[in-house]
Amino acid sequence: MRRLVIVSNRVAPLTPRKVASAGGLAVGVHAALAESGGIWFGWSGQVVAAPGPVRHQRAGSISYLLADLSESEHAGYYGGFSNRALWPTFHYRLDLATFERAHYETYRAVNRRLAGELARILRPTDHVWVHDYHLIPFGRELRRLGVANRIGFFLHIPFPAPEVYIVLPWHRSLAEDLCAYDVTGFQTASHTRQFVDYAIEELGGELAPNGDLVVGERRLTVGAFPIGIDVEDVQRMAASDEARRNAQVLSATLQRRQLVIGVDRLDYSKGIPERLLSFETLLKEHPDWRGSVTLVQISAPSREDVPEYQQLRTTVEGLAGRINGRLGAAEWTPVRYVNRTYSRRALAGFYRIAAVGLVTPLRDGMNLVAGEYVAAQDPERPGVLVLSRFAGAAEVLEGAVIVNPYDTDKTATALHHALAMPIEERRERHARLLSSQRAHDVHNWRDRFLRALAGLRDGQD
Ligand code: G6P
Repeated sequence: MRRLVIVSNRVAPLTPRKVASAGGLAVGVHAALAESGGIWFGWSGQVVAAPGPVRHQRAGSISYLLADLSESEHAGYYGGFSNRALWPTFHYRLDLATFERAHYETYRAVNRRLAGELARILRPTDHVWVHDYHLIPFGRELRRLGVANRIGFFLHIPFPAPEVYIVLPWHRSLAEDLCAYDVTGFQTASHTRQFVDYAIEELGGELAPNGDLVVGERRLTVGAFPIGIDVEDVQRMAASDEARRNAQVLSATLQRRQLVIGVDRLDYSKGIPERLLSFETLLKEHPDWRGSVTLVQISAPSREDVPEYQQLRTTVEGLAGRINGRLGAAEWTPVRYVNRTYSRRALAGFYRIAAVGLVTPLRDGMNLVAGEYVAAQDPERPGVLVLSRFAGAAEVLEGAVIVNPYDTDKTATALHHALAMPIEERRERHARLLSSQRAHDVHNWRDRFLRALAGLRDGQD
């Protein structure tokens, strides 16, 4: 039987309940793999003095193959090139990007080493599916080792506009890496177009009549494969005892105030300061809401060794304190800012009682919190999703209140309308949101990508 081999930097913790704080990739890939089974190869999460051979572990239908990183590999490949060069550039934060040749070289060296580890165990019929920006060169490194298998790549984060992408000193080489796959997938049609535009303008590529991208000797399938959630799974989570318990405890402390919820990794792409400013504007411009609405902002700690993340934490703490100090009262705290991780079940309980889900990243590949918020609602009394136009989810979900998170005044107005929205409109929007989310769920994502990887087109068996 053909095996599916998934490769990603972050591997979900082996206990499914803990998949929680790991971010969109781990949640999505775990949902995709758990059903069909397969191999999941990636970083163990351990940093050691001298990495030994990869470790094998099994949990349910998934066989994990885990590689440790040395301190210098972790610093250059993960903390350095992935998270200080690629992440900020691809999220349009050139002001936060650091380009260091040594980081780039370590990034390539780690990709080469890990490709070598995987090549050793691959069978000729395996299909290999590589994920995200940490591993862009992985496929080309496998090819250099003579691996002839079908290899696909999926980018979970945005692919930026060409004029932003070309700021990366190594843009050409990385784009050639992306062309070494049989299928290269993006979250949205816009990201795909931006990559294709770049390949045409800078690499002399062209589109074949069937939509394949041809660059020199290479011919590959490119396309949008929006990742989704497992809708039923989130609905089950929202109905679980753990969700109910957590929702009840939170509800009791709200004392009938409306709840606005934000849940993110503490990351500068998520627009958390702008979100807090919008909430502050709401309270200033519409003082009737004072004392009758509470923003719970849950920000799971993330990439804490990276200096830009430490700075963000200070900024967010300062803003939350300022809003509470200036606008709060002894009996009411406007912003409850929580810098910790909750289980996905507990979060589903919070979503269900929240009048508004505030998902306002400055840039986001997709954003699965938006989908989880929608799936967790009670269809009879649903809350309203306020969604950034710069999240991939805005291209997929229909029925959200769409905002520009940089425009904090208009976001505050949108929030005001969302909080005051009549029940009929809430139900109508929620029904559209849910059906668009179902049409793009995680199973659909996996199946479409794997069919493309098998060389089939939509509509073919
Ligand atoms: C985003 C990225 C993932 C990453 C996740 C968590 O969703 O696309 O690749 O795994 O963030 O970040 P971390 O650095 O903790 O893996």
